[in-house]
Amino acid sequence: MTAPILEIKDLQVHFRRRRLNPLAQPEVVRAVDRVSLTLNRGQTVGLVGESGSGKTTVARAILRLVPTTAGSIELDNTRLDELSGGRSHENRRRIQYIFQDPYSSLNPRVRAGDIVRSPLDVMNIGDQASRDARVSELFEAVGLRPEQRGLFPHQFSGGQRQRINIARALAPDPDLIICDEPVSALDVAIRAQILNLLQRLKRQRAITYLFISHDMAVVKHMADEVAVMYLGQIVEKAPRRSFFSAPLHPYSQALLSAVPRVGVGTAGSAGRIRLSGDPPSPIAPPPGCRFAPRCPIAESRCHQLPPELRELAPAHSVRCHLIENRGGAPVSPMSEWVAKHD
Ligand SMILES: Nc1ncnc2c1ncn2[C@@H]1O[C@H](COP(=O)(O)OP(=O)(O)OP(=O)(O)O)[C@@H](O)[C@H]1O
Ligand code: SF4
Ligand SMILES: [Mg+2]
Repeated sequence: MTAPILEIKDLQVHFRRRRLNPLAQPEVVRAVDRVSLTLNRGQTVGLVGESGSGKTTVARAILRLVPTTAGSIELDNTRLDELSGGRSHENRRRIQYIFQDPYSSLNPRVRAGDIVRSPLDVMNIGDQASRDARVSELFEAVGLRPEQRGLFPHQFSGGQRQRINIARALAPDPDLIICDEPVSALDVAIRAQILNLLQRLKRQRAITYLFISHDMAVVKHMADEVAVMYLGQIVEKAPRRSFFSAPLHPYSQALLSAVPRVGVGTAGSAGRIRLSGDPPSPIAPPPGCRFAPRCPIAESRCHQLPPELRELAPAHSVRCHLIENRGGAPVSPMSEWVAKHD
């Protein structure tokens, strides 16, 4: 059992948005609502969910790019959400990020070597000679040639630019790297190379990843644990094997059934579950289960009572009223529904 490095407890991030009518109360966007997540050292947690479910907002809260409304975020028992100024400097070093777009995240006027070196300069890590040596080492570690340090971003391909981003993230020797859709902007042919690079770096450098993705096949390849978000909440959390072999939440089953090669067990073998409509607005989430307006098996209590996240198998939690434990194993009524409607 590995030790937790990052613990998020009951995190809420609400944004107040002004309305056109200056006299009206601002709207509150409940982007993240009571999310708890533990990242164990050296492990990858895959955070999945539709667009707008709050994944990037969780990442931005960890990076302290948005203020938290409530809850706590602890890195090795230090509260990140309460830190300010210099004290947070060391913790900022320890958490780095790789965002989706390898094009816009690199300054076109700065040479690749200086981009990778910039965290060392900003955080004043090492002397000039050690920074130069570190940049050369990182270029090789991510599969670039040290002599490419003098080139500008436009002289690299998309995959190479994401390698520069990865080298920059590695520069201050972080413990945790947040990867927000790191391959979704890349050509399919390049994706596997970048994912394999991230896996190799994790093994070699004992890095922990929070890995955000829409793509279930990518998450299956990368994650040790999976957390599924829907409208600001986690609806299912499980070890990879348990999640992909027996997803329990109707929403997870729908996500997996859309990817036949990945969806196995209950949902995948029984054909595609088509969800109707879009998720409701996070400004006015439904009062009961947030998934109820789209859930094929919703009952009347689902529309009234919000379900809690319950651990129904070892380390496997699900937020649904209807999942029962029969004979020691959780059973989802979705399987019967799928069998009838297939
Ligand atoms: N600064 C902000 N002000 C107001 N609302 C915001 C802000 N940032 C995010 N939101 C809203 O919060 C919700 C969650 O957004 P977020 O970007 O975290 O979703 P996501 O899961 O990362 O989506 P995607 O898969 O499209 O990247 C959305 O409804 C979004 O419009
Ligand atoms: S609580 Fe009800 S509406 Fe929500 S996922 Fe479960 S069955 Fe569907
Ligand atoms: Mg996002």
